[in-house]
Amino acid sequence: MELEAFLRALPKAELHLHIEGSLEPEMMFSLAQRNGVPLPWASVEATRAAYAFTDLQSFLDLYYAGAAALIHEADFFDLAMAYFRRAAADGVVHAELFFDPQTHTARGVAYGTVLDGLERACHTAQTELGVSSRLILCFLRHLSEEDAFATLTEAEPHLARIHGAGLDSSERGHPPSKFARVFARCRELGLHVVAHAGEEGPPAYIRQALDLLQVERIDHGVRASEDADLLARLAEDGTPLTVCPLSNVKLCVFKRLEDHNLAQLLRAGLKVTINSDDPAYFGGYILKNFVDTALALSLSRAELTQIARNSLEASFVSDAERVPWLARLDAVAAGT
Ligand code: ADE
Ligand code: ZN
Repeated sequence: MELEAFLRALPKAELHLHIEGSLEPEMMFSLAQRNGVPLPWASVEATRAAYAFTDLQSFLDLYYAGAAALIHEADFFDLAMAYFRRAAADGVVHAELFFDPQTHTARGVAYGTVLDGLERACHTAQTELGVSSRLILCFLRHLSEEDAFATLTEAEPHLARIHGAGLDSSERGHPPSKFARVFARCRELGLHVVAHAGEEGPPAYIRQALDLLQVERIDHGVRASEDADLLARLAEDGTPLTVCPLSNVKLCVFKRLEDHNLAQLLRAGLKVTINSDDPAYFGGYILKNFVDTALALSLSRAELTQIARNSLEASFVSDAERVPWLARLDAVAAGT
């Protein structure tokens, strides 16, 4: 089987996807028009042309500006359904979606509106596309601990509808330690916990995420390779890393995909997964991340199968849900 067809056929879980980062410029413009919201760009083409980032912050500035087009329940539903259709076409069987309530509540959009639209899309994705999903609420780390606690309090009546908590936005200068108490409360409430760490921030932030936040997965984590003891710990504990190769190149974490350390992390025994992060901004959904990375780093089919297997194993679904996906994965890998 040709590489792309093989990678498409492998059942995959996408574990690092910001739903606001799947807002394609075409939808951004149609929603902005529908909602009477001004955008800082004159056209779809001008918007795409502005996607030349120098670091994480240069991306986040645009990403938050674009999210302003999202106002109504139907906007969040349309956004998530467009993502699920793309994901299904790429062979995603399960997706754990990050969403950033503070980006919306700060503009006067109610938390319930965001959640209602996303949750309706999750149900529709299951019934119409056969894609299962979970929602993970992310706290914006450039905002205060107090703001995060207020967000959690607002979310509490709806906690049955979300599965986990995460930490995203500007990493430098906002260590995980800032949110230790918020994450303790999230764990008390029975939420799964994950955090972005070691994307731009130092290995010490990965250690803090593990020790202080007690996260179950590290989002990105690529800077772990600067710390041999940390690498050994991540390998030994089997802590999953949700790596996003095209994102890392777009945000200048690595100059070229050929320079990415994903193969090094994988070969050091880490539970590496491949994800798209913010596909509308970074030039590709999960399948393109797999194909381009496989070619750039000469990953073998056994390694690619391992990466897909890691994603199914690292997801927050029950073992019963995982079993048929793993069986299909084995069948694809065996060429049957
Ligand atoms: N929010 C959306 N994408 C992000 C990323 N790659 N890092 C941190 N925060 C984000
Ligand atoms: Zn991310």
